[in-house]
Amino acid sequence: MAKLWGGRFELDSSALLEEFNASIFFDKQLWREDIQGSKAHAKMLHKIGILSEKELQDIVNGLDCIAQRIERGEFVFSASDEDIHMAIESALTALIGDVGKKLHTARSRNDQVAVDFRLYVLRYNKEITKLLLELMESILAIAKTHTHTIMPGMTHLQHAQPINFGFALVAWACNFKRDVERLFSDYTRNNKCPLGSGALAGTPYNNDRIFLAKELGFDEPTLNAMDSVSDRDFALDMLYSLSMVMMHISRVAEELVLWSSSEFKFISLSDEYATGSSIMPQKKNPDVPELLRGKSGRVYGALMGLLCVMKGLPFAYNKDTQEDKEGVFDAIKNVVLCLRICKECLKTMSIHTENMYKMAKIGHLSATDLADFLVRECNVAFRDAHHITGQVVAYAESKGVDISDLSEEEIMSVDSRIRQGVKSVLCLESSMNARNSLGGTAIMQTSAQIETLTSFVREQMVHLTGDKDE
Ligand code: ARG
Repeated sequence: MAKLWGGRFELDSSALLEEFNASIFFDKQLWREDIQGSKAHAKMLHKIGILSEKELQDIVNGLDCIAQRIERGEFVFSASDEDIHMAIESALTALIGDVGKKLHTARSRNDQVAVDFRLYVLRYNKEITKLLLELMESILAIAKTHTHTIMPGMTHLQHAQPINFGFALVAWACNFKRDVERLFSDYTRNNKCPLGSGALAGTPYNNDRIFLAKELGFDEPTLNAMDSVSDRDFALDMLYSLSMVMMHISRVAEELVLWSSSEFKFISLSDEYATGSSIMPQKKNPDVPELLRGKSGRVYGALMGLLCVMKGLPFAYNKDTQEDKEGVFDAIKNVVLCLRICKECLKTMSIHTENMYKMAKIGHLSATDLADFLVRECNVAFRDAHHITGQVVAYAESKGVDISDLSEEEIMSVDSRIRQGVKSVLCLESSMNARNSLGGTAIMQTSAQIETLTSFVREQMVHLTGDKDE
């Protein structure tokens, strides 16, 4: 089939070249943005006097008709069309005749692909932000009901100090808050329109790029045509932000895997979001959190892949850049899926609060409180307090109990400097609530943190939906 660019060619392309060169089988995902970009371009061409009113109408109607055909699955994509841009342009000309051939005036596929891909990435930037906010909402809803639930807080994965479960969940949510903020700043930095840059040097048509930017929902046109057709920072920003999302998800997933094991038994995954073993009938496997953890690999891979494609490229468009898309498509698809399933997995899990408490009773978690009590109430220097506390711990160990289970008399029998009232600081609740410094685990502090994050989610949701209505 004759190529749209085939004027100077005598021989047909080889089938092998077509297979190698074509991006149509993956960039067809950009069809919405390609049509959106073409409509804006046609309107601009009309505005600067290149298309008549009737020609504009024919082109817009033709593009709408093609959109419907693609939507209904009736559009045939073929390798000979090379990419989505040429597929739609050929279909348009086939549909409306020679007027279709005017659409590519004052445009190159270089600025066309740059704008399509940017629109696509920005669309999913918002969609993923929304999913992150919904995930935060679910985490905060659980956190709210568990500010009294004591669990062992750990460092080095060893029991350290008592915390409440809500506090641990807030720590998760803080990660996703930063992801939302990162995506927002990516959006703001990249919301500029490259269309109208032509192949690399601008066009001789006086394209109204401010009109184009407005029409497509960008803040403004990009500054320099050569940069505009070669810049893929917006895609790299997205891949970095998605890698961070996946790194955060993998850490949450790791806790779910640990916590659902018989060793921890802090949670059980719902049957809906767990799997069985084909050989061991008794098993319930955390495949969902494991996949959530494992899928970070392919997203980091996409980031590394695109960084390598872009490295050392001369400025302006190079065909290497066609390799920018598949990794981004794959990363977006998987992050969307991960965020949705992570939310459901959390919403449906059961939480074994008694077991969390039982485990918090192992490891003398309130030992630091005893040392602090000795310093504060008994006028003992911290180094001595540390030593005396060690002796109390040894005493409790000899009895086979946690220090919080010793009686006041028993504790005081260890050293004459220990004063009355010591028992009350050793209970896990008071130990937890003693950490009432800003950002601490005390119920009061945890509730304030939940409040802050809840307002953040509410404000961002309004911002996001408000933008959509514009
Ligand atoms: N399919 C190409 C890509 O994805 C579109 C731009 C091609 N431009 C060109 N001059 N060959 O990058």
